[in-house]
Amino acid sequence: MEKQTIFSGIQPSGKLTLGNYLGAVRNWGKLQDEYNCFYCIVDMHAMTQYQVPKDLRKQTLEGLAMLLACGLDPEKNTLFIQSHVPAHAEAAWLMSCMTYFGELSRMTQFKDKSAKQSDNINAGLFTYPVLMACDILLYQADLVPVGSDQKQHIELTRDVAERFNNRYSPTFAMPKPYIPKVGAKIMSLQEPEKKMSKSDENDNANIYLLDPPEVIKKKFKRAVTDSVGVVQLADDQPGIKNLITIYSVCKNMTMDQVVEEFEGQGYGVFKDAVADAVIEVLKPVQDKFHELMANKAYLEEVYKDGADRAERTARKTLRKMYKKVGFIPR
Ligand code: TYM
Repeated sequence: MEKQTIFSGIQPSGKLTLGNYLGAVRNWGKLQDEYNCFYCIVDMHAMTQYQVPKDLRKQTLEGLAMLLACGLDPEKNTLFIQSHVPAHAEAAWLMSCMTYFGELSRMTQFKDKSAKQSDNINAGLFTYPVLMACDILLYQADLVPVGSDQKQHIELTRDVAERFNNRYSPTFAMPKPYIPKVGAKIMSLQEPEKKMSKSDENDNANIYLLDPPEVIKKKFKRAVTDSVGVVQLADDQPGIKNLITIYSVCKNMTMDQVVEEFEGQGYGVFKDAVADAVIEVLKPVQDKFHELMANKAYLEEVYKDGADRAERTARKTLRKMYKKVGFIPR
């Protein structure tokens, strides 16, 4: 039986967080044997925010090294950089002519980001989901492993794909979001009602994947909790719920097992244990990351090979799209 296809992407717009890891990247490695997987560092998406060119270059390479350090085997997965495969931008123009202004106006990420960068609400920020839809559709992806914040974008992808399929003829596979049961939305350590996000200005709100152990310990010690004082799952204890989630994913335990383990214990003990669990999970990732960053020639080999492979699949779909809409082949 032919393997199903998976596509996902990650922005190189800052340092990767524990949210990116637990909600997305950690799960990608588990899929590599069963699926035909494409993972992309979406540098073109990152342009919707102002980027310092030399930082963007560095973060793009770091993003790739991080995917490898998190266990993605470049033989089994196609790992590439979005701007290396021009079909993404080309398809995005066509699909932007099939996506309605009203649909894009409803995207919550657009609303959130517009509020955060009110001095730079650029057209790319608005049409961002169209480019994301093309990322997915060009590879005929069946599944898209993401955190829950991306669900709405995948629903839009399906709507636009269906519109194209109906207007012309069946062209795209219908992608489904693939969201983990636990860890799909890791919250900020400082404002646990908000998602942990690379763009948060408060450093203490995030655990970065490259944070050294003492920093991780300190950030968890300072994590905002509540005055209830009981490690339990309750709606009015979002900080504790977030810590239970993090511990449960790192330790492969259910949330109830975590509650049981810390019954009768204070928050201090619990926070230290969560920090230790995170340090243990991140240690091998960090070691591998530093080893890879010291070998730029290898990283170059990986992204060049990835781009060649991605290009072949993406071109094939783009050719079909062009033909169906009535463009004359050259
Ligand atoms: P990005 O770069 O913001 O995040 C990468 C992945 O990490 C997940 N994630 C989280 N999961 C749990 N808790 C959190 N706090 C958290 N923060 C981030 C995201 O859900 C995502 O899976 N638009 C995408 C990138 C993209 C893409 C694509 C994804 C571009 N094209 C095609 C899938 C398919 C984004 O900005 O992800």
